[in-house]
Amino acid sequence: MSTKQTAAVVLAAGLGTRFRSDRAKVMHGVAGRTMLRHILEALRPLGLTQVVVVVGYQADQVTAEAEAADLEGLTTALQEEQLGTGHAVAQALPELDDGVEQVLVLPGDAPLLTSGTLEELLSGDADGVLLTTELDDPTGYGRILRDDAGHVVGIVEEADATEAQRGLREVNAGMYVFDRDQLERAVDDLDADNAQGEQYLTDVVEILVEEGAEIRAVLAPNDDVRGVNDRVQLAEAGGLLRERALERLMREGATVVDPSSTYVDVGVTAGRDTVILPGCILEGETRIGGEATIGPYTHLVDAEVEDGARVTRSVVLEASVGPGADVGPFSYLRPGTRLERGAKAGAFVEIKKSTVGEGSKVPHLTYMGDTTVGRDANVGAGTVTVNYDGYDKHETRIGDGAFIGSGSMLMAPVSIGDGAYVAGGSAITDDVPDDALGIGRARQVNKDGWAREHRERHGDVDEDQS
Ligand code: UD1
Ligand code: CA
Repeated sequence: MSTKQTAAVVLAAGLGTRFRSDRAKVMHGVAGRTMLRHILEALRPLGLTQVVVVVGYQADQVTAEAEAADLEGLTTALQEEQLGTGHAVAQALPELDDGVEQVLVLPGDAPLLTSGTLEELLSGDADGVLLTTELDDPTGYGRILRDDAGHVVGIVEEADATEAQRGLREVNAGMYVFDRDQLERAVDDLDADNAQGEQYLTDVVEILVEEGAEIRAVLAPNDDVRGVNDRVQLAEAGGLLRERALERLMREGATVVDPSSTYVDVGVTAGRDTVILPGCILEGETRIGGEATIGPYTHLVDAEVEDGARVTRSVVLEASVGPGADVGPFSYLRPGTRLERGAKAGAFVEIKKSTVGEGSKVPHLTYMGDTTVGRDANVGAGTVTVNYDGYDKHETRIGDGAFIGSGSMLMAPVSIGDGAYVAGGSAITDDVPDDALGIGRARQVNKDGWAREHRERHGDVDEDQS
């Protein structure tokens, strides 16, 4: 990589008309991150001293998103009116530190760009370097103009191109490194005398070449430099990003049984010998340990699943599944839930903001909210923690080794002691002491002959018994 002091300028002020959206284009998500975040993550390993993000349309939201990346040396520059990519760069230049010698300019709408490709762009030693790629369908991109000797002499935008120029397949990726002083001078000379009436950054190339500067092109892989101008391209970029994420998981030692039915965001990690069965959607910053089994048909969002755990046909949202724990089929673990080592949340169980202690089991048909369960407790089928009174949420505590009989309502706030039992079908409104039995239901009454008389009253004659 170049030893020159380098700052990056990321252009993120545009609305993105072709998205037909009320949101700034760079704020659209793909494979688990906004487009802006993808670019900032590609910059992160380069360790640049300064990154200036040019914001304009929805500046507050875009600034917040840029700052959320927590990147060393990141600031923003405001482009109040979006008068073109050259004008956008001009707004960033005054923000650069004195020592900066060269400027890396990147678009905000290229989420496939990798750090490796950026390093290649920065390794060139010309006055300026731009990334290009050859596309079978170059529609929408600026075309690279070369002289007879093959030297880059300019870039022509599609809207301004002649029929012959449109036939050129080498396109501008919109990613460049320029010498700082040369860029400052050239940007000053830009006009908006073109089909779109904008100050094109691309014109800088021709201006510099005319000044006698040497501008080189580095040919990059197609996929890395794709721009995303509409939602069709967004979906294409998403497919490629997820493909890369799947490949990374497999190379790191996870088995993905059917990559074509598995959707993995770029922030997802999985350990060795984990098996991901078909039909899974793994989103956000989900972390999966080793020797785990995920799926089939499981949806994890910002979830943590530790070593040896198993999650079958379930949804886990900002929740954490401890080592060897067992979830599903058909469980729904909501934010703030933690299953400790070897715990179980079985079929048709919903758990919110609760901790289920080591070895404890919630095997069937339970709603549990705002609850702390100790170790080795058993929560019977159909138990409900009644945590909401229409105004406030209340907490339930279930002690170590407690046994909750099936079909019980635990009316929070309430505490079931260590080793205590709750009789099946109870409505528990008072705390149950350690090792006690709590029964909260009316005693059963049997009325002999009632059913037969009932049928007779309705005209049914019971054959055997008449
Ligand atoms: C641009 C290039 C084109 C190249 C393509 C690569 C120009 C004139 N054209 O075209 O040669 O092939 O990228 O994908 O540069 N932006 C601002 N302020 C503005 C205008 C744009 O910040 O006033 C930002 C946008 O938010 C976007 C980026 O600059 O992130 C690129 O703008 P966009 O309109 O997408 O340019 P393209 O038409 O794709
Ligand atoms: Ca673009």
